Amino acid sequence: MFFAIIVAAGRGERVNSVTPKQYLPLLGKPILAHTLDIFEKSPWIGEIIVVINPLHEEIFKKEVWERYGYRKVKKYISGGETRQESVYGGVREVKNRGDDFVLIHDGVRPLVDEKILERCVEGVIKFEAVCCAMPCVDTIKCSLNGEVIDETLDRQKIWRAQTPQAFRISLIWEALERAKEEGFQGTDDSSLVERMGKPVRLVLGSEDNLKITTPQDLILAEELLRWRKK
Ligand code: C5P
Repeated sequence: MFFAIIVAAGRGERVNSVTPKQYLPLLGKPILAHTLDIFEKSPWIGEIIVVINPLHEEIFKKEVWERYGYRKVKKYISGGETRQESVYGGVREVKNRGDDFVLIHDGVRPLVDEKILERCVEGVIKFEAVCCAMPCVDTIKCSLNGEVIDETLDRQKIWRAQTPQAFRISLIWEALERAKEEGFQGTDDSSLVERMGKPVRLVLGSEDNLKITTPQDLILAEELLRWRKK
C-alpha cells in the first residue's frame, strides 16, 4: 500500500498575504486542494495524511476538508516547527501500518501530476528510496560570503530536488529518528537517507512542479493550470 503525506504546516507567509499561501486560490480553489486532488485521484495512493499548522485548522476544515470531502484523507494532524518535524509526525502515523511505502509531498506543489506519481511508485518499489528532481539549466555558483564567487559547480552533476520523494516506511523512519537524535535538520527528506549512506535514486520530476513561494509563482501556476484544463 502507498501512503501519501502532504506537508502543509508551514506558516506560509512569504507571499505577503493574510491568507496563508497554501490556502490561496488558484482558479478559485485553494492551492492545497489542487495538490490533494492529484493524490485523491491517483489509483496508486491508498491513504493520505495531511499535516497542517494548528493555527490554520479552521480554514483547512472549512475550505478544504469539508468542502471537497476527500475520501482518502482519513485524518489530518498538526505539524511541527520545521518541515522535518512535520514529516516526522506524518511518518509516525503510518509507521505501524505495515512496512509499505510512503510518498512525501509539499502541499504547495499543486502542479504535480499522475505521471510523476507513477515514476515515484515504480522507482520506490525497486530502489526503496527515490527523489524526484530536475536537471539544472543554470550555472550554479558557490559563494561563502555572498559577495565573491568561490567556485563554479559542474552543472552536469546538479539536480534540483522536488517532491514527491518516496521511501520504504521503515527506511525513512530510521532516517528521521537518527536525524532527530543527532540534531540534524535537512531541507528535504532524501538528505536524511543519504546521510545514512543509503542510495537514493533520482526520478524525473517536471518543470511545472514548482513550489509556490513568491507572488510570481501564483501567477505562473494559475496560467499552467488554465493551460492544463484546455
Ligand atoms: O519551508 P518550505 O517552503 O520548503 O515548505 C515546503 C512545504 O513544507 C510546504 O508545503 C510547507 O507548508 C511545509 N512545512 C510544514 N511544516 C513546517 C514548515 C513547512 O509542513 N514547519
